[in-house]
Amino acid sequence: MRTQVAIIGAGPAGLLLGRLLERHGIEAVILERRSGDYVLSRIRAGVLEHGTRELLNACGVGERMEAEGLPHEGTEICFDGVSHRIDFRALLGREVMVYGQTEVTRDLMAARAASGAVTIYGAEDVALHDLDGSAPRVTYRKGGASHELTCDVIAGCDGFHGVSRRSIPADKLRIFERIYPFGWLGVLVDEPPAAPELIYAHHQRGFALCSMRSATRSRYYIQCPEDTDLDAWTDDLFWDELRRRLPQAVAEALRTGPAIEKSIAPLRSFVAEPMRYGRLFLAGDAAHIVPPTGAKGLNLAVSDVQYLAMALAEHYRDQSNAALDAYSARALSRVWKAERFSWWMTTMLHRFPAFSSFERRMQVAEFDYLRGSVAASTALAENYTGLPT
Ligand code: FAD
Ligand code: PHB
Repeated sequence: MRTQVAIIGAGPAGLLLGRLLERHGIEAVILERRSGDYVLSRIRAGVLEHGTRELLNACGVGERMEAEGLPHEGTEICFDGVSHRIDFRALLGREVMVYGQTEVTRDLMAARAASGAVTIYGAEDVALHDLDGSAPRVTYRKGGASHELTCDVIAGCDGFHGVSRRSIPADKLRIFERIYPFGWLGVLVDEPPAAPELIYAHHQRGFALCSMRSATRSRYYIQCPEDTDLDAWTDDLFWDELRRRLPQAVAEALRTGPAIEKSIAPLRSFVAEPMRYGRLFLAGDAAHIVPPTGAKGLNLAVSDVQYLAMALAEHYRDQSNAALDAYSARALSRVWKAERFSWWMTTMLHRFPAFSSFERRMQVAEFDYLRGSVAASTALAENYTGLPT
C-alpha cells in the first residue's frame, strides 16, 4: 500500500492530523495498535483550551462539543482552605471548554469513518524503516499477515510508549525529564459535580482536583504516593480522603457513588528534542509529556498537529520544505512554555515529601502572590486558556 502521510497512532494527535490533512487534500493512512473501542475506553483529559475549541470547530468536528460541552469562565485555586477564583472572562475575555478527550476522539473517529479515510486498527509490530532517506516505509502485521506501507512522510503520533520516538537513534535526540514522586488517583462517577467550576486544591495531605465531564458525570483526583496499589483504594476510602482535602462547603456538597472508572496516572515532565528525524515527525505525547495539573497534554498534541498539517500543506502545495524544516523549533517553543506552566502549577499545588520548610514557605508565598495580584492571576489565566499558536 502507498500513501502520502503514514500516521502512527489513532489518539487525538493522529486522528486530528488525519482530519486536517484531509481538508488540505492530502492522503493519510493511520495505523493503530489497539481497537477503536479500546482507544475510547481510556479516560484522560477533560479541558480544551480556547484555541483547541476553535480548531475543532474550524475542521468541522465541533458540533457535539458545542452542544454538549460545558464552557467555563473561571476556575478555583484553593490553598489550605483559602479559595481564589481565576476569572478567565473578566481577566482576558476568554473561556475554556470542558469536554472529555474520549468525546473528542469519538467525534474525530466518526468524521474519519464518514469520509472513508483509512484507519487500520489492531496493527501489530509496527516498525519504521529508511527514515533518513527519501522513501520511508512502515511495516506491520495484521490478522497473521505482514504488510508494508510506503509514504513520503511518517507522523509519529503514538504517545509516550509508542514505537516512533524509539525508532530515532539515541544520539540524535536530547531528552529532558523530571519524574515527580507521586501520581494521581482518578475516579469517574455518575453524579453531578460538587461545584460548578473546576477546583484545584492544595492540602497538607496532598493535592486534590474536582473536575467533570457533564452536568451528571464528575471526575475527581487525589495525589497519591508513586507506589500506590489501586486495589487498596475502595470507593469509600477514596471519597473520605477527597473530602478531607476539599474546602468544607465543597466536601459537604460532594455527591458520591460507585466509581465507573478508577486509575492511577504517574506525573512526569518530558521533552525529546528535536521533534524530527529525517522523514519522521513526532507530535503529541510521542515527543513530550506534562504533568496533568495545567490540563495541557491534549492541548499540546493539538497545537503540534496544527503546525505539522500547515507545514505538510505548504510542502505539497509549493514543493517547499521550509515549514517542515521549521516544524520542530516552532512546536518546541510552545511546548516549553506549557512545560513551564505545568511544572509551576504542579510545584505550587502538590505536597512534596522531600520539601524543606523553606520550599513549603515558597508554595505559600506563590499562592499569596497569586491571590493578591491581578497580574499573577492574569498570567495563570493566559496560560490555562491557552497561549497563542
Ligand atoms: P495518545 O492519546 O497516547 O495516543 C497514542 C495512540 O498511539 C494510542 O491510541 C496508542 O494505542 C497508539 N500506539 C501506541 N503505540 C503504538 C504502536 N507501536 N503502533 C501503533 N499505534 C500505537 N492530560 C490532561 O490534560 N489531563 C488529564 O487528566 C490527563 N490524564 C492522563 C492520564 C493518563 C493515564 C495518560 C497516559 C495521559 C493523560 N493526559 C492527561 C494526557 C493526555 O491524555 C495526552 O496528552 C493525550 O492523550 C495525547 O494525545 P496523543 O494522541 O499524542 O497520544
Ligand atoms: C480532567 O477532567 O480529567 C482534568 C481536568 C483538569 C486537569 C486535569 C484533568 O488539570
